Amino acid sequence: MRKIIVATENKGKVKEIKEILAGLEVEVQTMGEAGINIEIEENGKNFVENAIIKAEAISKLVDALVIADDSGLEIDYLNKEPGVYSARYLGKDTSYEVKNQIILDRLNGVPKEKRTARFACAMALAEKGTETVTTYGTIEGYIGDHAEGENGFGYDPIFFVDELGTSTANISLEAKNEISHRAKALRDMLEQIRERLDR
Ligand code: IMP
Repeated sequence: MRKIIVATENKGKVKEIKEILAGLEVEVQTMGEAGINIEIEENGKNFVENAIIKAEAISKLVDALVIADDSGLEIDYLNKEPGVYSARYLGKDTSYEVKNQIILDRLNGVPKEKRTARFACAMALAEKGTETVTTYGTIEGYIGDHAEGENGFGYDPIFFVDELGTSTANISLEAKNEISHRAKALRDMLEQIRERLDR
């Protein structure tokens, strides 16, 4: 069976991605499972550049398809911060409970219409000797006035979506995979992945 390596060790992301790729005749491995242990400097200007940097760095080391995503939260009131710095924002070892509380404090008193935000995700598919392709997905929402929910990861507890009436931490993985930025980018990539697998 062919292999796809997912260029992340983030358990939340891996779970979401494995679920979406579950229908394909392919073994999905994380970098760790594939025995790859390299530090990649994510020094791109935006999500797309970072996704390409990650996917291409790993595809040079393996004979497999590699998908990498780069994603993050853009809060309009904070000039689209944390953006590409989402994982490193307020210190990479700071817990999300603390990060989320700091963001809530920064937005204290800001009316709902100015609390708009989105999760964005760029996905890159790379393989030695072929051209790298990318897709992009977003989900629009707003920063709530409190944290809510136990599911998901990262900024999910403070990211609310009107249609859900709650945060993306308060819905199931299946429900998040219907609507998430990563799911949209990955679904748009599915056809290309299928094509590569058939080659
Ligand atoms: P990356 O691993 O460089 O793509 O960084 C992504 C960071 O953005 C994560 O560590 C989270 O902080 C945030 N993020 C991306 N997608 C989500 C999501 O679906 N929920 C919550 N936080 C997210």
